[in-house]
Amino acid sequence: MPIHEIRHPLIRHKLGLMRRADISTKSFRELAQEVGALLTYEATQDLPLESCQIEGWCGPVEVDKIAGKKITVVPILRAGIGMLDGVLRLIPSAKVSVVGLSRDEETLVAHTYVEKLVGEIDQRLALIIDPMLATGGSMIATIDMLKKAGCKEIRALVLVAAPEGIRLLEQTHPDVTIYTAAIDQRLNENGYIIPGLGDAGDKVFGTK
Ligand code: URA
Repeated sequence: MPIHEIRHPLIRHKLGLMRRADISTKSFRELAQEVGALLTYEATQDLPLESCQIEGWCGPVEVDKIAGKKITVVPILRAGIGMLDGVLRLIPSAKVSVVGLSRDEETLVAHTYVEKLVGEIDQRLALIIDPMLATGGSMIATIDMLKKAGCKEIRALVLVAAPEGIRLLEQTHPDVTIYTAAIDQRLNENGYIIPGLGDAGDKVFGTK
């Protein structure tokens, strides 16, 4: 499974700001959207183009356009919403499929409470967005769901990834490419990424 750690200076800088303990909700939100947009730029580098002729200011001109690639962005609730506007800023016509999962803390089994996938998913490139790839459980459950619905091409955009989650994803879905702003050190005993960002959902929604 290919993993791309995007070490662009703008991403490194913005992620560094996001790691500050005293970051405000406003700044965290803005930066999550900005890094989401920068990851989208990287994750769409190989979209096929076709040329077409348009009427330009000085007459007919050949221009490129994306060759009819249908895209769905798939935020995993709730933290994934924190990257959604950034992704849509670059791909404004993408359709949005929403996935919500909760985990039974005793059995650790993931339970789906929202599965709202757009139509023609079998013809779309899916860009899953979730700020944190920690254990990989939610990501794998979302990929399972998309593949079951017929989706054939899936990419995952995460702000920070833990080696544990990357390994599990590699074993279960080697065909899914991950784009991340950082591969961090490890998970702690509570499943948080170290050094990570803390609870990304709380930081996006201002709930802590
Ligand atoms: N989810 C988060 O919000 N943060 C982590 O570090 C891990 C999972």
